[in-house]
Amino acid sequence: MTDPKNVHSVLAKHQLADGFPMVLDLERSHGVWLHDAASGREYLDCFTCFASWPIGYRHPMMDDKAFQEELLVAATNNPANSDLYTTSMVDFVEAFATRVTPADYPHHFWVAGGALAVENALKTAFDWKAHKVGTDQVHDGNDLVVIHFRQAFHGRSGYTMSLTNTDPTKVELFPKFAWPRVHNPACRFDLDGNLVDGVEADEQRSIDEIKAAFAKHAGRVACIIIEPMQGEGGDNHFRPEFLQALRDLCDENEALLVFDEVQTGFFGSGKPWLWQTKGVKPDVVSFGKKSQVCGIYANERVDDVKDNVFRRSSRINSTWGGNLVDMVRSRRFIEIIEQEKLADNVAAQGDRMIAGLRALAQDKGGFDNVRGVGSLVAFDVEDGKQRDALLGRMRDQALLALPCGARSVRFRLPLVISAEEVDKALEMVANALPAKVQA
Ligand SMILES: Cc1ncc(COP(=O)(O)O)c(C=O)c1O
Repeated sequence: MTDPKNVHSVLAKHQLADGFPMVLDLERSHGVWLHDAASGREYLDCFTCFASWPIGYRHPMMDDKAFQEELLVAATNNPANSDLYTTSMVDFVEAFATRVTPADYPHHFWVAGGALAVENALKTAFDWKAHKVGTDQVHDGNDLVVIHFRQAFHGRSGYTMSLTNTDPTKVELFPKFAWPRVHNPACRFDLDGNLVDGVEADEQRSIDEIKAAFAKHAGRVACIIIEPMQGEGGDNHFRPEFLQALRDLCDENEALLVFDEVQTGFFGSGKPWLWQTKGVKPDVVSFGKKSQVCGIYANERVDDVKDNVFRRSSRINSTWGGNLVDMVRSRRFIEIIEQEKLADNVAAQGDRMIAGLRALAQDKGGFDNVRGVGSLVAFDVEDGKQRDALLGRMRDQALLALPCGARSVRFRLPLVISAEEVDKALEMVANALPAKVQA
């Protein structure tokens, strides 16, 4: 086995190896603590593999014998789940569709990767809209468009690159569709947690731009897609009133409302889905990351079209239709999250983290706009340079977090985090603040 100290140099001979400087030790990492095999140091993990690892390392319930045996059988095989079914697959589908997806969303589709989940949400909408308009009217679908938002991140695959507009490096020089992109009316919060004035005017600007896009692309808008909280674009939260306005616009203009919950979904907000904290129902949801298996679920609105993509074979598909190992692991996660009440836990610990950060900002200064829900917590620093420096000092303190947007720090808390661990994280943030702030 490669010496942990050589991991980066060996990798760099064969691929880009500009990842985190530590080497994940899967044997020694435990709970919220990520053990670095190279240095022996332990880090409090508030990055959770880009919001994809919900239950901490070596969770005791993963040691269950029956689960381990099922996992091994799945891992020593790799069936084409879309077309060849196993009892393990069905147990996962049943658990997800009855305990994670709300009851009024009967349609599911599974795939590996968040961007591909979004791609298939778009294909669902294009197919639906083409049939609504008349398939001969939309020039083989080429007329159809997607309304999306500034600072959106939906992935780096074919269609999604036409939507993603965060770091230009991720999309520049690749051919894209010129689909309508509109203003994102992000909320800002003061240090008491109150909304800062001005968001209604911002929302109106966005709604005006959306109406203009519907007028310009009359009868050709397949969907509006939005992350109910933009993650990589800056942990931008939207008011329920704004999401409701999107709902109304979609209904009035015969478009689907798609929520991209790849980053926010699967209990990250303390509810199965972030949209459930807002009270506004989408038509289609893309998910991934924490759910392990990625995909989409949809309500009965797609059934307006008889031969929709969930009914007509081969319109959306992939060989593996997700991955059986991920399915077995995802089902276990559902059991663990339910049994240990981890959604309630992360809702409470997120509140604790936010309250602690607000108190710290009031006391010391150095950051503001503390915001979040459940595992999704963020704040703003003066500029990107200072943000990156702060993240570096946090890592020196053994706290892992992530950048987002132009000048935000984001935490993606493990659902298992305890109050003591939140307090430890807060202590590390305090120690990492610039010396002039601490003085
Ligand atoms: C909201 C959102 N959508 C889509 C994606 C793409 O997911 P993946 O990286 O698994 O393709 C991401 C990844 O960060 C995301 O945050």
